[in-house]
Amino acid sequence: MQISTEKNNLFGEQAVFAQRVRAILATRHNRVPKATVITFGCQQNVSDSEKLKGMLCSMGYEITEDEHSADFIIFNTCAVREHAQDRVYGNIGKVKQLKKDNPLLIAAVCGCMAQQEIVAEKIKKSYPYIDIVFGTQVFHRLPEFIYKRLKGSGRIFERDLPNGDIVEQIPIKRDGTFKGWLPIMYGCNNFCTYCIVPYVRGRERSRDPEEILAEARQMVKDGYKEITLLGQNVNSYGKGCDHGINFSKLLRKICEIEGDFRIRFMTSHPKDCTIELLDTIKDCEKISRHLHLPFQSGSSRILKLMNRYYDREGYLKLIKEARARIPDVSFTSDIIVGFPGETYEDFKETLSLVEEVKFSSLFTFIYSPRNNTPAAAMPDPVTRKEKGKWFDELLRLQEKIAAENIKEYVGKEYKVICDDYGSEEGYLSGHTSSSAVVEFKGDSSLIGNFVNVRVTSCQGGSLKGIIIE
Ligand code: SAH
Ligand code: SF4
Ligand code: F3S
Repeated sequence: MQISTEKNNLFGEQAVFAQRVRAILATRHNRVPKATVITFGCQQNVSDSEKLKGMLCSMGYEITEDEHSADFIIFNTCAVREHAQDRVYGNIGKVKQLKKDNPLLIAAVCGCMAQQEIVAEKIKKSYPYIDIVFGTQVFHRLPEFIYKRLKGSGRIFERDLPNGDIVEQIPIKRDGTFKGWLPIMYGCNNFCTYCIVPYVRGRERSRDPEEILAEARQMVKDGYKEITLLGQNVNSYGKGCDHGINFSKLLRKICEIEGDFRIRFMTSHPKDCTIELLDTIKDCEKISRHLHLPFQSGSSRILKLMNRYYDREGYLKLIKEARARIPDVSFTSDIIVGFPGETYEDFKETLSLVEEVKFSSLFTFIYSPRNNTPAAAMPDPVTRKEKGKWFDELLRLQEKIAAENIKEYVGKEYKVICDDYGSEEGYLSGHTSSSAVVEFKGDSSLIGNFVNVRVTSCQGGSLKGIIIE
């Protein structure tokens, strides 16, 4: 898919709405209007929220964390598990009181939940104080929605963008000053049978490589030391496009940008993780020695039911190939416990895979049935309580492995990005290229910079080190 200039200008019309909103707000409030953005869900949502903030600033709002002083509040929601949705419903309920305190408050709900018709209907009926509800496919139209509401329109419900275009040139206000997100693609075509993402994020679309490179160049120029490339399956970047640049080639091009910075990416789907990609990581020093490679289940039978397009052996082979090429690589993964029909025998295969690979950390989830996904219609005889026991067993195993893994770092030297203050007075915290966290004594002026650290000890599962030249 080639992106034409016309598509890139889709935000142009919205910029006009933003200016109109700015003019209205100047007379509506006798102070600078404030806006709060509350984000749930994955990095894609965090990245989208940075654009919501950018658009809000372009309309004249000042961003605040304090929802009680806000004149506009927006909830950017996640639908991936029932629990995520429940949290959102719990949160939007408080808008009722906020509106009593500030009658000028405008409230909106957007993101993956709002893309579902059933959710939009529920908000329409049960949350009458929410003014605007819009899905992921129209999220760039925020200025237009606020403008219409300010001009006295009824409540706004919008979900569709039939051609699913990528909208470039949306203003952005990044949360971080030295670590930043860079989406390279949107949507998902994989339809894993448990997952709602393809339904709420639409079909997979890759951004134009030149747009990505321009943004990366700007980030490096602005002092960003770590750029994380985002996509539901970054390994399929460029599929169906005529520019011929796949994910490995894109990585190499970003690495050519001059400057001292690091590149991370997520998520890698094992079915599309190629030897070419592993070689690219090996060759390019700027790419983190870390792969987030969700395997979901260690049982080939369950993987088939999940529609993952790899099996246990294929996954383990990939890990082996990666370790052979990149000896210091670390792995993290996502796992679902209690997929419909999973037996304890299947689950034991997940445990043995975890044991074999020795991941540095895991994101583990108990299966949650999602509306209209194929898995939700599969028989699911194992009780939640039983799944909870399996889940705890997995956590205990991983804790033991992580504690063992981390000892490997002691005595070695690493270039780390200094992230923040440490957990003890006088200490700072940073992370290695393989994403291990280490604390060391140092001056706070180092935060946001690379420092070389020798790891000296491992105490209670966390690494301590000293700065070296
Ligand atoms: N695109 C990424 C994952 C996005 S969702 C990938 O393919 O790996 C993040 C994680 O949520 C998934 O990896 C999966 O482990 C988990 N997840 C998704 N749907 C789920 C569901 N219905 N129940 C429980 N966990 C789920
Ligand atoms: Fe969901 Fe699978 Fe797509 Fe990941 S690859 S977002 S798990 S459908
Ligand atoms: Fe949630 Fe949407 Fe991300 S469903 S996990 S916020 S893509």
